[in-house]
This record gives sequence, structure tokens and C-alpha cells, in this order.
Amino acid sequence: MTPALSIQGLNVAYPAYGGRSVEAVRGLDLEVGAGEIMALVGEMGCGKTTLARAIMGALKPPGRITAGSIRLGGQDLARLGEAEFRKLRGRDLAMIVPNPRSELDPMRPVGEQIAAVLRAHLGLTRKPARERALATLEAVRIPDPVRRYNAYPHELSGGMAQRVVIAIALACEPRFIISDDATSGLDVTVQAQILDLLARLVSEQRTSMLYITRDIGVAAHFCTRIAVMHRGEVVETADRDAFFSAPRHPYSATLLAAFAHSPALRARWTRPDASAEIPERGCRFALRCVRAMERCATDAPALSVLAPGHAVRCHAPIRHMAVPA
Ligand SMILES: Nc1ncnc2c1ncn2[C@@H]1O[C@H](COP(=O)(O)OP(=O)(O)OP(=O)(O)O)[C@@H](O)[C@H]1O
Ligand code: SF4
Ligand SMILES: [Mg+2]
Repeated sequence: MTPALSIQGLNVAYPAYGGRSVEAVRGLDLEVGAGEIMALVGEMGCGKTTLARAIMGALKPPGRITAGSIRLGGQDLARLGEAEFRKLRGRDLAMIVPNPRSELDPMRPVGEQIAAVLRAHLGLTRKPARERALATLEAVRIPDPVRRYNAYPHELSGGMAQRVVIAIALACEPRFIISDDATSGLDVTVQAQILDLLARLVSEQRTSMLYITRDIGVAAHFCTRIAVMHRGEVVETADRDAFFSAPRHPYSATLLAAFAHSPALRARWTRPDASAEIPERGCRFALRCVRAMERCATDAPALSVLAPGHAVRCHAPIRHMAVPA
């Protein structure tokens, strides 16, 4: 089956004046299938937002794509100009970010903001755009949508404003949605409701989603597949159950140990004296990895398929994950 989104060999760099350019994304390969919710997890600064913005054609300067392709349908987004991106964003591609109020125009009723997207991208006239905007408000479970259509963003709670942002993102039934930490600022109950809502809409619309989070618990609950990112690279991708029952990359094991708040488990997978440096050659995790061998210092491992749907970037993937007593 052709994936909805296919990224191959993607490099994104932030060139620095006089200094070394930061390679925030390096040789990244990732495929997201139709109707799939792919979690993208990894520690602070590993390049998640940079990847999301590269897909959206919205890298912050001086960031730029230096190699690779990002295929969505028949198009390579890595080669698209701003004018073409403007047509795609909102219609085929959408992104949801935290702090929904900053995404909304404070001077305009929220219903009109949804209708404006529908008019711009689908060419609807006023009345059908209003009707569809109302239906979208209903779809994201906004109570009393007719009244809320005319509300201004400051009149809505944080959870309601996030629903409106989701309504705008989903209004044109885009093929691909990215959520970058979008639910992290919400309280736990509202977050659970928004996640349920997103999952339902993704399945009804056969949309695909890249769900970026540092919360592995949310990824476990909500996503169908998991991709682990480490220092600009994808180091493991797997179906959710395979990943949580038997992670194969040492960094994935470290992440899970950190999430479990288990110092014993963490010590098992991470060197206590680990350096924060990224080695110039070899595996980018080598200085922190308890399994590092001589070869890891010189040969960069490739992302290799170990089982159907399960790929790992490691010379010595974990075979068994011991359960601590
Ligand atoms: N505008 C920028 N200019 C220069 N470097 C940047 C810029 N934005 C990000 N970077 C660098 O790129 C790397 C990846 O940053 P990015 O924001 O993509 O990480 P992240 O995984 O989203 O982190 P977080 O979990 O904190 O959101 C970091 O080293 C960061 O310093
Ligand atoms: S390639 Fe070597 S250093 Fe890198 S994660 Fe695997 S065992 Fe550890
Ligand atoms: Mg980020």
C-alpha cells in the first residue's frame, strides 16, 4: 500500500554565521500510512518541531532543507515553492499547535474563521461555507454551535479554543494532520476528550496524522504506530504493541525507563557518565549507549527492517527486554 506521507533521506540545517551549521534533521526516513496515527517521540531538541515545520513548508529562518524528499500524494513537498504551499496548507495539510488562542484571530468570530478557510480553499460561497462551518463545530463537539459561531476567541475556554483550532484544521478534510505538542497545555480530562475526538475524526475522514509528543503515555494510549527520534534521526519505528512489549533500540529502552521513573531500569540502558556531545562519526547515541561496541564509534548504523513494520537504526538491537523485579 502506498503511504500517505513518505520521507526519505531528509536533512534540515540551521546554518550559523561563522560557526558550524546545526543539522537538526539528518538522513531521516519515515512513512505514515493512510488512516494511521503515528506518534513521534523523542527528547527536547531532537528535531521534532523542525521536522513538522519542514513538512508544512514553514521552517523558521535560517532553517532549510538541504537534502531528501517529502512525498505527499504525487508531490514532493521538499521542492515546493511558497505559492504552492499556500494552496496545500489548510486544504491537504494542517498543523495543530499548543496555545490555541495565538492561532486564532482575536477580532473575528470563530465560526467566521472556519468559514473563511472553507471559502478560500474549497471555493464555497457564504451560505454553504457557514453551514459547513457549523457542521464542523458540531463535529468537534462544541455545544450550542449556532451561538458559538458568533463567539470571539477570548469568550471560549482553553479546551473550546483548542476544539476550534482543530475544527479549522479539519474543515477541508486534509489528507495529513500534524499535532505538535498540541494537547500538552490542557488539563488531563480535556486532553483525553480532545484525543478521543482527534482519533474519531482521523478514522472517519481516513486522514493520517503525525502526533508529536514527549509524553510516551499519550503515545501508548492514542497512536497506532510509534517513531522514536534521537538527535535528528529516526532510530526506531514499530507498531504500538510491538514497540511497548519489546523496544529494540537502546535509546527507546532509555526513553521507556525514564517514563517509568525507574532509576534501576534507566541505569541498565544509559551510561551514568554519558556525554551530551554528538559524536562526529558512527552512531549518534554511542557516547550514552551501554551496548556500544568498537564499530559503533566509526560506522553509522542504517535504519534496518527487523520484522514487518519494525525498523531499527542499531548495530546490536536489543533481543529481549528483561522485566525488572
Ligand atoms: N530557528 C532556529 N535557529 C537555529 N537553530 C534552531 C532553530 N530552531 C531549532 N533549532 C535547533 O534545532 C534543533 C532541534 O530543535 P526542535 O525545536 O526541532 O526540537 P524539538 O524536538 O521540537 O524540541 P522540543 O521537544 O523542545 O519541542 C535544536 O538543536 C535547536 O537548537
Ligand atoms: S549502534 Fe551501537 S552505540 Fe548505537 S545504539 Fe546500537 S549498540 Fe548503541
Ligand atoms: Mg518542539
